[in-house]
Amino acid sequence: MSRRPLIAANWKLHKTVPEALAFLDDLLADLTGDEAAEVVIAPPFTALEAVGRRLDGTAVRLAAQNVYWEDQGAFTGEVSPLMLTQLGCRYVIVGHSERRQFFGETDETVRRRLAAASRHELTPILCVGETKDDREAGRTDDVLTSQVSRALEGLYPDQLQELVVAYEPVWAIGTGLTATVDQAQEAQAHLRLLLARITDKSLANQTRILYGGSVKPENINALMTMPDVDGALVGGASLSADSFVGIIQF
Ligand code: PGA
Repeated sequence: MSRRPLIAANWKLHKTVPEALAFLDDLLADLTGDEAAEVVIAPPFTALEAVGRRLDGTAVRLAAQNVYWEDQGAFTGEVSPLMLTQLGCRYVIVGHSERRQFFGETDETVRRRLAAASRHELTPILCVGETKDDREAGRTDDVLTSQVSRALEGLYPDQLQELVVAYEPVWAIGTGLTATVDQAQEAQAHLRLLLARITDKSLANQTRILYGGSVKPENINALMTMPDVDGALVGGASLSADSFVGIIQF
């Protein structure tokens, strides 16, 4: 089963609308349109509409960085799946480690967001990853197993056909420290086996598993040679069109 590579930009708390549009001018000028990889951009909520309009008619897909699990109601400050699909979002990042670290995200809230996204045909990009302490204590596989199984609890394979998983070791995010290709491959092979066990084998084979954590044009090629690395979730290096294009055209 061949999986189309996916390269996703996670802009985090960066770029106003004019900055986002200037980036897209550069990006779209550099893309040929027949890239092997599917390209996804996750701007902050405030730029979703403008970025979505600019991407309309291009092959680049729009993603949100988070989603709430209710469609509407008295939930000040939240954004619903309906609001995102209406703006043309196809993907949503769920459970990013910064949300887990700084904003009280738990396995249970990740599970709810993921379920809400799949109900609304928003493809979840589920982020999981171990901390430095976890890795040093030999707990990497256990942490990944627990994060993934709890996120997918109660969902059936037919609700997860489009699921994307991002393996993002917390110690590699924004630190300049990339996992070695062997560390990435080992963790991602574990994730695929786990998906086969908790969903089914064909779903596990078709699920794209991305690597994230200090991905740059200089290290993407080596990562992409690994059999279970199907793309990348890129933070810092996605903020300039030059380096992001360098990663897309690995
Ligand atoms: P980074 O972030 O590429 O800046 O390490 C990756 C991520 O957090 O998704």
